[in-house]
Amino acid sequence: MTDPQIVLTERVQQALASAFGSEHADADPLIRPSQFADFQANVAMSLAKRLRRSPREVAESIRVALTDFPGTVEVSGPGFLNITLDDSWIAGEATGMREDARLGVPAVTPPQTVVIDYSAPNAAKEMHVGHLRTTIVGDALARVHERLGNHVVRQNHLGDWGTPFGMLIEHLLDIGEQAAVAQLEAGMGTEYYQAARAKFEADETFKTRARVRVTTLQSGDPETIRLWHVFMDATVRYFNKIYAMLGVTLTDADIAGESMYNPMLEKTCQDLEAAGVAAISDGALCVFPPGFTGSDDKPLPLIIRKSDGGYGYASTDMAAIRYRVHDLKADRILYVVGADQALHFRMVFAAGRLAGWLPDTVDAQHVQIGMMLGKDGRRFKTRSGESVKLSDLLQEAVDRASARLADRGYDEATREEIAHAVGMGAVKYADLSVSHDTEYVFDFDRMLEFHGNTGPYMQYATARIRSIFRKAGMEPAQATASIVPAEPAERALALHLLGFGEIVGQVAAHSEPHRLSAFLFETASLFSTFYEQCPVVKEGVDAETSAHRLALCALTLRVLESGLDLLGVPVPARM
Ligand code: ARG
Repeated sequence: MTDPQIVLTERVQQALASAFGSEHADADPLIRPSQFADFQANVAMSLAKRLRRSPREVAESIRVALTDFPGTVEVSGPGFLNITLDDSWIAGEATGMREDARLGVPAVTPPQTVVIDYSAPNAAKEMHVGHLRTTIVGDALARVHERLGNHVVRQNHLGDWGTPFGMLIEHLLDIGEQAAVAQLEAGMGTEYYQAARAKFEADETFKTRARVRVTTLQSGDPETIRLWHVFMDATVRYFNKIYAMLGVTLTDADIAGESMYNPMLEKTCQDLEAAGVAAISDGALCVFPPGFTGSDDKPLPLIIRKSDGGYGYASTDMAAIRYRVHDLKADRILYVVGADQALHFRMVFAAGRLAGWLPDTVDAQHVQIGMMLGKDGRRFKTRSGESVKLSDLLQEAVDRASARLADRGYDEATREEIAHAVGMGAVKYADLSVSHDTEYVFDFDRMLEFHGNTGPYMQYATARIRSIFRKAGMEPAQATASIVPAEPAERALALHLLGFGEIVGQVAAHSEPHRLSAFLFETASLFSTFYEQCPVVKEGVDAETSAHRLALCALTLRVLESGLDLLGVPVPARM
């Protein structure tokens, strides 16, 4: 159960070495799926120039050197190699995959420690649609790395500290703890923030109280810290409601908000200054990483302590990068954050390298999340221009899914359960089926379609396979015959399934979950063709053929379910 493209790459490389010498062993054979055969290798064209021979001649030499090959190789056109694998090879590999609990997904040795910074909503405001995407994409990456055997450390870098907390706490005192908690738990963080802000601007005594409160908070005054906890705990309870709805794997143990770094900031600045990495400029402590200039060609500063002595977003990220490498022992750090913060992260990484806190052996990547747009092509908002409340948005997805299931004859409880899976699956899959850095239009009608590359379509594909097994009167796990693809549609499906493990590895390597969605969508499409052309349980289909096909159905189902699980898309048993 190795990906055929990988197997072929190795085999052709061996042939290159034996035909033209070991210096060619690493050449990319340029294997691509082909219309005329299973695959095509185009290496002869590029190699011909270097060898000063004709491409056809080079292709012919490769063909001859491919001895003991589990398929046929033909030279065609100006020098392409058309490769067709033997049915028996595909049968053996697919059957092996069916017997493999890991479905061909490799286990990384030695495991890496991968720190994934994702979700990270701001407590001073409502969790909004942008954080929906960072949450969903980050969670998929966490699941994929774990499946590969890596040690994943989730870090929810909550915006839970800073000057706004002065007014937020004073507002809490004004309206009373109970009322504040009720409001925050209900996800009215934005309203709460706006009310506090309005008073701050209109009322001088409130403004003074808020300013004093920032100082008492900074100094660690026990009562102020208690009030901060009252505020934060209620806010986190709302975030957790959203995570639970979505089926996201984040827990309270993964919270590592800005407040956590507060005690480290003074030392962070001292160490950077002492090492000569940071210097005072216009009263502020700054790092000037080389290569960053502003519009006026002046070096761009990363400000780690403002001229008034206060710390900011960049100070915290410098402390965090040191903590993640030094304390969490990260081999790799992924920051799943909006694309609009690209410059910030490039500067933080550069400053981290300068300080030696982010050594070359540790990879840091900003997984840029593109903006979510409304149907009007602008930043996603409600009609009144307010940002959209996330719990309402998610509930709307469930309600719409429920309406679509109305005519299917389910009892109320079953329908709600399926609607939840379909609604959340639709929202999550929509995020994961496009590349994470593109802007995309949030469109309920499209994401809830039962056809096309959507969550419901993928879920429906699994439900359809399950219904085949119900018809056959057996469980998928009981389909243990070997897989023997005879018809072209069976063969194409089996060949495709062999690539699953390789795709999972690629998602991790490139931090691109949409590669997996594309693979699963192709799986579902090939399954549809197979199911149209190759009856599984039907009169006139002999028992042996039926058993082979059931085994292929079972393998397809496992790949789909396992893949959707990696994406965090729930799979209802029926639909
Ligand atoms: N809370 C920030 C925001 O909403 C995202 C934090 C991302 N992580 C980080 N280490 N800066 O924009």
